[in-house]
Amino acid sequence: MRRLLITLLVFIALGVAGFFVFTDPRVVSPGAAVGTLPAPDIENGKLLFAAGGCASCHATPGQDDKTRLGGGLVLDSPFGKFHVPNISPHTRDGIGNWGTADFIQAMTAGVSPSGQHYYPAFPYTSYRLMPPKAVADLLAYIRTLPSVEGRAPGHELGFPYNIRRAVGGWKLLFFDGTPFKADPSKSEEWNRGAYLVNGPGHCAECHSSRNQFGAIVQAMRFAGGPDPEGKGWVPNITQAEGGLGKWSKSEIAELLKSGFTPSFDSVGGTMSAVVRNMAQLSDADRLAMAEYLKSLPAVQGPPRPQKAAGG
Ligand code: HEC
Ligand code: HEC
Repeated sequence: MRRLLITLLVFIALGVAGFFVFTDPRVVSPGAAVGTLPAPDIENGKLLFAAGGCASCHATPGQDDKTRLGGGLVLDSPFGKFHVPNISPHTRDGIGNWGTADFIQAMTAGVSPSGQHYYPAFPYTSYRLMPPKAVADLLAYIRTLPSVEGRAPGHELGFPYNIRRAVGGWKLLFFDGTPFKADPSKSEEWNRGAYLVNGPGHCAECHSSRNQFGAIVQAMRFAGGPDPEGKGWVPNITQAEGGLGKWSKSEIAELLKSGFTPSFDSVGGTMSAVVRNMAQLSDADRLAMAEYLKSLPAVQGPPRPQKAAGG
């Protein structure tokens, strides 16, 4: 009996130690070399800010000026409520005191300046594809925006999701921290599109279904699912029947510019903000994203639930 108890205690101790080793934020943090970066390109940062849809989550709700990044939007998730933080250049309440290395670490490793994991409700899971230079440009642009006072309240998450350290375990299972690698067998246009769609554009974050841990089901990437950032359903954008199979490359690019579908409907819901952002990119970039989307294999997504009466 006593030996059993000791064995049990040893296992628990090992488990706890293992938890702390494997969830250590340093395990996934790349430590960015910023000294060698060229002077930032603020115009490129502005473009990435649009492509990344940062304002959709970080602009304070209910204000017209989308460049005031005071936070406060509430993201309702199966794990609880996330209160999006202030990322304006305010030195106390925003990220005004952050260095470029801090920002690169947050955007590409999901680790805060004080060494804590971020929840993947912040889509660094996609942004991590951005090279350090691009992330530095983005920060340089954010530094030109108004400084906004005030902090969002803390997240309201249930147990065990309120244990930030446990996100380290999630990352071990689901987070690929590698930067974008171009595929030399594909065209330059395809690679630009693949980067914009999977990286800053984070299209898969909405257009995919998720498992019970909130991670994208990779086998059904882009095949649609419930909207994680709002209510309703996000359509399949693979080449499946009912997806973008019948859309031409220019029709996809047009949707990203004007919001109009080939049947002259216009997209709404959380996609309208995406279109407003994508409209700020160049025609060449929108065509590149379309080129990439046209290359995706047809994947059948989860069945769309029947509309309930009144919904
Ligand atoms: C889908 C909503 C969403 C989008 C889009 C989004 N973020 Fe966030 N962001 C969050 C949430 C939620 C957090 C808080 C994460 C946490 O507390 O673990 C966060 C945290 C951050 C932080 C850390 C702030 C701090 O105080 O520690 C930074 C920096 C940040 N985001 C930058 C950006 C940038 C830059 C973009 C655009 C490229 C962006 N975010 C797009 C939801 C979003
Ligand atoms: C914040 C969540 C979100 C993000 C991010 C997002 N989408 Fe969407 N998308 C939606 C929703 C919701 C709809 C459905 C809108 C409607 O039915 O009115 C949609 C619709 C579409 C459609 C129309 C499909 C159809 O069958 O009508 C296309 C194409 C599309 N998105 C492409 C993209 C691309 C490309 C990206 C990345 C640049 C992207 N989306 C990023 C939520 C999102």
